[in-house]
Amino acid sequence: MKFLVINGVNLNMTGRREEGVYGSESLDDINRQIAAFCKKNGDEVEFYQSNVEGELCSKIQSCIDGQYDGVVLNAGAFTHYSYALHDAIRCISTPVVEVHMSNVHAREEFRHRSVISPACKGVIAGFGKNSYILALESFKL
Ligand code: DQA
Repeated sequence: MKFLVINGVNLNMTGRREEGVYGSESLDDINRQIAAFCKKNGDEVEFYQSNVEGELCSKIQSCIDGQYDGVVLNAGAFTHYSYALHDAIRCISTPVVEVHMSNVHAREEFRHRSVISPACKGVIAGFGKNSYILALESFKL
């Protein structure tokens, strides 16, 4: 299978921000572990990160030709208010799984609402970097 892992706003700061919440490993460290997991399973994976909402929408739109079997999306704070990302996810038929490293429901109230969840196949939150792995595994079910 072939997957795309997309990280949104501020995820490039992972390992350098709120370490108690997001851990001390960088996004590159985490992506290397995801790549090793996929390789072990004989799967292909590509990575994309942007802090720009429109760029994330364009990347999601670019999946319209069905190049990927699944997209894993951690949209960061855009999760909570980006109707543009919601609509971009609805533009494609590739399943998108929403991911959060932290348990957003155990945090501030503004994190309890996701405007992208209704457009996603499912949601995984609260397992740190393993949230990405669990999301990838979900495509095998
Ligand atoms: C996050 C949770 C969001 O609320 C937050 O804005 C992030 C990261 C997570 O991975 O836990 O930037 O998506």
